[in-house]
Amino acid sequence: MKRFTERQALFVAIATSCASLLATFGVALIFGHAPPGKKSPTIKSPEVSVEVITHGRRLFIRHCVECHGFDARGDEGSDLHNLRAGDPLIRQVITGGVNGEMPAYGKMLGEEDLRALTVYLRTLRN
Ligand code: HEC
Repeated sequence: MKRFTERQALFVAIATSCASLLATFGVALIFGHAPPGKKSPTIKSPEVSVEVITHGRRLFIRHCVECHGFDARGDEGSDLHNLRAGDPLIRQVITGGVNGEMPAYGKMLGEEDLRALTVYLRTLRN
């Protein structure tokens, strides 16, 4: 009987640590944050949420994959992972386009869309 409870305790301990590991990496993945201790300088919460990221991803699939690729690794357009540009510059590229290379989306996308796209692009890291 005692062995059984010890086993149970062990199981619970392992399950809990797995769960907390998953939670940590899940959050890190979703928000593109560096592991705890190394704060990512580029993400400014609290406007980041799963809904915003999902909205950004949808917009990306609708408008951007033809050039930047489904995985955003670049095709005709560039790889959009680990962008160095700050939020305002990214926004400017999306709204104004790149002459002869990328269309301007300023008239097509609203404020919320632009924010969601930028937040989504910020999650693309490796
Ligand atoms: C017709 C093809 C095309 C489409 C569609 C397109 N892009 Fe681009 N994009 C490009 C090309 C080409 C570049 C690289 C331009 C350069 O710097 O010479 C680029 C550059 C960028 C950059 C700057 C990358 C950097 O390194 O700073 C961002 C950000 C970007 N695109 C986002 C988007 C988003 C978001 C969308 C969808 C709303 C989109 N693009 C749609 C072709 C495209």
